[in-house]
Amino acid sequence: MRVPVAVLAVLSMWSSAAVAQVKPEDAIQYRKAQYSVILWNWMPMNGMVRGRIPFDAKEFAKRAERVAAVAPQLLEGFPQGSNAGAETEAKAEIWANFADFTAKMKAFEQASAALATTAKGGDETAIKAQFAKVGESCKACHDAYKAE
Ligand code: HEC
Repeated sequence: MRVPVAVLAVLSMWSSAAVAQVKPEDAIQYRKAQYSVILWNWMPMNGMVRGRIPFDAKEFAKRAERVAAVAPQLLEGFPQGSNAGAETEAKAEIWANFADFTAKMKAFEQASAALATTAKGGDETAIKAQFAKVGESCKACHDAYKAE
């Protein structure tokens, strides 16, 4: 189906207007909720990697898949102007260096996607190595862009 140019123009106006209308406090709430989902699934994996709970490949794979599914939904939780408006630990540097922030987010997305794939393979050593890489991608971003 051919979509008339005028319709496309209206659609793109609508979508940028929709983004502009996001309230900072809603974006902050959204991204914190996403991080809660990540942490919820991260902790059992962390426990298995550290030997605090028995390693269970199937359980690990389920958690890794969830983190990989959430990761690509995070960046939209950081619209311009959402460094204030509700309690937040996001530093203003995020929006001053948005290309770098985006690159760090993409690195995290790729590392967590690779973890989900590796986890399906069930090789404990490989899984632990990739888990460490994902952890490094969290830390790289937090060190630069998250206040303590
Ligand atoms: C590209 C940057 C980036 C990556 C990658 C990243 N984070 Fe964060 N994280 C942040 C920022 C910025 C905040 C602060 C958000 C806020 O307070 O508005 C945050 C907040 C959090 C929070 C606190 C949420 C709350 O309720 O206040 C947790 C938990 C968290 N991150 C865990 C992780 C874990 C675990 C990973 C990796 C698996 C990760 N993050 C990867 C940037 C990142």
